[in-house]
Amino acid sequence: MTNTIALITGANKGIGLATARQLGGLGMTVLIGARDAERGRTAERELRDGGADARFVPLDVTDAESVAAVAKLVEAEYGRLDVLVNNAGIILADGARGLPSETTVATLRRLYETNVFGVVTVTNALLPLLRRAPAARIVNVSSEVGSIAVMTDPNGALFELTSVPYPSSKAALNMLTAMYAKELRDTAIKVNAANPGYCATDLNGNSGFRTAEQGAEVSVHLATLPTDGPSGLLWGFQMDAGGGYGVLPW
Ligand SMILES: NC(=O)c1ccc[n+]([C@@H]2O[C@H](COP(=O)([O-])OP(=O)(O)OC[C@H]3O[C@@H](n4cnc5c(N)ncnc54)[C@H](OP(=O)(O)O)[C@@H]3O)[C@@H](O)[C@H]2O)c1
Repeated sequence: MTNTIALITGANKGIGLATARQLGGLGMTVLIGARDAERGRTAERELRDGGADARFVPLDVTDAESVAAVAKLVEAEYGRLDVLVNNAGIILADGARGLPSETTVATLRRLYETNVFGVVTVTNALLPLLRRAPAARIVNVSSEVGSIAVMTDPNGALFELTSVPYPSSKAALNMLTAMYAKELRDTAIKVNAANPGYCATDLNGNSGFRTAEQGAEVSVHLATLPTDGPSGLLWGFQMDAGGGYGVLPW
């Protein structure tokens, strides 16, 4: 075995593209999961021009057939997967503030298809290949808005946020992370959730105060944890602790 194989979902722009760029910069072969071929190829080209061993793979995380095709390709070409970054995610405005009383089930279903069910589909399809790697890492790109402790802290910066769709999808992702970590605790695989912090990307109309590159640092840290590193944590930007990196409460 010579190189490290990393698959990043939703890697054609934003934090995913920055994550692929940084992992590629570390010498990993980066598989650019993107649901749109043109956007995926453009990202592949950009990363290759920058010196990375990047390869576009067609991947819509809500489409089980597309996920199965990626698993088949990775098995055939590489025989294993060392790093999986479940980065693809969406936010839906729903035309309102997302208050529980205003939230529609249709919105939740659409959001969960990508942010929650997509992660399970991708992870379970790739797990046999992650098990074949000597020390695989799974990074689920979550958010502090998925932390019930952060969202209900009356002294915290997010206490005024009373939205259900996106935060509840990330809360579900946090639980998935904790349970995958528990199931895999006797293996060499580490599973953690990343909090990139509020980064300027298309997801939020580029309103974030951090850059996509800074957000990607969090995923890269968790994707490159050493053998004695942790598993089953929500780790990343700590707004309430003054902006450093560290463990956040679930
Ligand atoms: N930006 C922030 O402040 C922030 C904070 C906390 C967490 N996050 C999380 O960070 C992750 C990346 O978000 P971002 O801010 O970089 O947003 P972004 O720029 O909108 O990028 C989202 C990426 O996900 C892809 N995607 C969406 N649905 C997909 C699907 N069904 N299959 C495959 N790919 C899909 C998008 O592809 P298309 O180009 O085809 O749409 C795009 O590549 C998300 O999980 C988000 O929830 C972001």
